[in-house]
Amino acid sequence: MTGLPDEKGYFGRFGGRFLPETLMPAVEELTAAYLKVKDDPKFKGELRYYLKYYVGRPSPLYYAQRLTGHLGGARIYLKREDLNHTGAHKINNTIGQVLLARTMGKKRVIAETGAGQHGVATATAAALFNLECDIYMGEVDIERQAVNVSRMKLLGARVIPVTSGSRTLKDAMNEAIRDWVTNVNNTYYVLGSVGGPHPYPMMVRDFQSIIGEETKKQLWELERRLPDYVVACVGGGSNAIGIFNSFLEDREVKLVGVEAAGEGLESGRHAATLTAGSPGVLHGSYTYVLQNEDGQILNAHSVSAGLDYPGVGPEHSYLKETGRVDYVAVTDEEALEAFHLLTRTEGILPALESAHALAWVVKKAPELSPEDIVVVNLSGRGDKDLATVMQLGGGEGNVR
Ligand SMILES: Cc1ncc(COP(=O)(O)O)c(C=O)c1O
Repeated sequence: MTGLPDEKGYFGRFGGRFLPETLMPAVEELTAAYLKVKDDPKFKGELRYYLKYYVGRPSPLYYAQRLTGHLGGARIYLKREDLNHTGAHKINNTIGQVLLARTMGKKRVIAETGAGQHGVATATAAALFNLECDIYMGEVDIERQAVNVSRMKLLGARVIPVTSGSRTLKDAMNEAIRDWVTNVNNTYYVLGSVGGPHPYPMMVRDFQSIIGEETKKQLWELERRLPDYVVACVGGGSNAIGIFNSFLEDREVKLVGVEAAGEGLESGRHAATLTAGSPGVLHGSYTYVLQNEDGQILNAHSVSAGLDYPGVGPEHSYLKETGRVDYVAVTDEEALEAFHLLTRTEGILPALESAHALAWVVKKAPELSPEDIVVVNLSGRGDKDLATVMQLGGGEGNVR
């Protein structure tokens, strides 16, 4: 809704294409293909069909009455992306990109994944449209997201372990880009968030904007007004841009992006790129990154595999610097507490990523009045995180 990026892929000073020459024809081919189908009624009709009958959209906007009562302040609504097929918002984007890959005549898709949700969503779309599928995943994430690894394999994808660097999402993305450079003729790279070179930040935002469009309409039907706050977690930033996009021009709506403060900002073990990072280049884009004084990218840490990334989509960097969105950070511990609170009060297990957005609301809602409305994007469900939660003392969260 900002009219950005410009034709070179810039959001203000952020974005662009910082890539080896060999990849330039590929991103140009992709941009041309996307701009051609973007407003094409046939493509849009097909996308709408799969989002409705396969993904299960629109996802509900649910009034969390018990959580609201427990916190004793603002009225809290949850946008239920956890109810999408495959359990997260990631499927909105992969259906769009895999439909695009098909129109481009590509027979093979590749993707990177951290929490495994984007890998599962890509493998699902590849199965649906009968495409060969390889997923790059860091060894650490393979260990902590074992259930999603099994799901990808059952869906017919090959999961390729990445052993370099911190063995998490950043390294998986490096490998996926390397594969794309080598196999660009027959391969489409399904990028999982609003990062990477132009056109990905624009294209993934467009595919995820359905979240905010629905939210605005649904809240109007229920309350006849705009929300006071819209809150979402930020890893690469796709679920956040997805829900924020429809509200960017409604200046009275406060938008809050919640990053992972991990073990605390001062500990150095966190993934709070916008809160504690600085501008630099990562994965083909100029954006906020976690880096040392020499510009070396630092390892990120979060209890949540989907937030464990030292970069962020360039549009978020722009929205931070223009002041339109407030970016804050909550710790692993706060996110875990919020996980238990939602589970016990509403019977909904949130993804640990989404629990970060909830944790901010848990702190903020009691300060607000019952006249205030807060919408939280529940980006995914927590089944994938059970091993992590149980290991960290799961089941002990007593909120009664
Ligand atoms: C459920 C869920 N929420 C959020 C994220 C973070 O990604 P993004 O910031 O692109 O929405 C992930 C990433 O894997 C995820 O699985």
